[in-house]
Amino acid sequence: MSRDDDELPPPSRCRPTDELPPLLEFRDGSPVETAADWRERRAELRRSLRHYVYGYAPDPPEIETATERTADVLDGAATLVETEIAFAALPADAPSITLAVFLPSDAVDAGRSVPVLLGLNWRGNHAAVDDPAVTITDTAREHGGRGDGAAERGVAADYWCVDQILSRGYGFATYQLADVDPDSGDPADGIRPYYDDDLPGPPGTEWGVLAAWAWGLQRCVDALRPMEAVRAGEIAVLGHSRCGKAALLAGATDERVGLVAPHQSGTGGTALDRDNDQEGIGDITGMFPGWFADTYAAFDGQVDRLPVDSHSLAALVAPRPLIDTAGARDYWTNPGRALDAVRAAEPVWELLGAEGIGDDLPLYGDDAIGDETVGSLCHYRRETGHTLNEGYLDAVLDFADVHFDGG
Ligand code: GCU
Repeated sequence: MSRDDDELPPPSRCRPTDELPPLLEFRDGSPVETAADWRERRAELRRSLRHYVYGYAPDPPEIETATERTADVLDGAATLVETEIAFAALPADAPSITLAVFLPSDAVDAGRSVPVLLGLNWRGNHAAVDDPAVTITDTAREHGGRGDGAAERGVAADYWCVDQILSRGYGFATYQLADVDPDSGDPADGIRPYYDDDLPGPPGTEWGVLAAWAWGLQRCVDALRPMEAVRAGEIAVLGHSRCGKAALLAGATDERVGLVAPHQSGTGGTALDRDNDQEGIGDITGMFPGWFADTYAAFDGQVDRLPVDSHSLAALVAPRPLIDTAGARDYWTNPGRALDAVRAAEPVWELLGAEGIGDDLPLYGDDAIGDETVGSLCHYRRETGHTLNEGYLDAVLDFADVHFDGG
């Protein structure tokens, strides 16, 4: 879609461009001074983010969960529960989500519930651990995307480190993004066509792929919360790169999510669009035209007119805990502008009485993450390029230990 300048919102008050659209100010210029004001401002920002960036997703549908089964995996250390999430109003041949939940067997045996890290994966649930009990989710392969069935078993084991997550007393839940949208570039694929007539926004603001994946994560939250073994208030969402963008969007727009952990999420995630010398709006919408609402591409070259930025999305998480993790050598995701976004969002946490990001930033490598060192906002880096690994997962779990009742 192309838009004339006339159709764009007037420029936000942000000259030079290193100033960001204010968070604690309504669009009409009146100040946001109380937690009650913030509720209204939050709704306004959420609408703007949907309108100008990610698109409007359909309202939460009624889900049907079925074919649940359990198995011992990882030499008995984990109990696997697999749940098929279908959508009551859709035809039987519509996509469904295969949610795999790995729970620490000792907790299950003792009848204890656990906090859960919910991660979005792109290589298949069966790639997360090398165990034949895990159902092969190969929708990506069917659509010519990444993923290779049985050969992919366990290939992402060092990435998700499920055994490590379980040993810390947490469960791990995951679904493959291709269940919702295979990222093929074809808008006819995936779940979105089934909701064409049910979207709340005007033309040009239909949900993009990132919003669809985020919506899928929220359907997993629907399915996880009633599970006895899961602490409903202690579900953290996590994702890397494009999955980090979707995880941030899912957690920011769903207050049932107890902690949000975008990893190396870059543009469309925590990195600001303004003054971003890495991936610009034109780059990302050119390479991945389906990821956003069509409206977003129109801000290429005139980012100062965008009424929101990534600090607006981060702020929707407040006062819940948010940890943004970044690779010091992962330049494309622009860790500097991600940190700037988190800093810019901090006043919202403070307004709501939560402890913000503090001064000693960013936290690096082996820096301690504990009650003494972090509040409800954290930006953490390791000396890596673009990857997820056990060091990052430890940091997220340390942060979760601070905020959850206990792993
Ligand atoms: C590309 C894209 C990034 C994205 C990444 C990924 O590099 O430009 O925005 O995060 O793919 O998801 O792997």
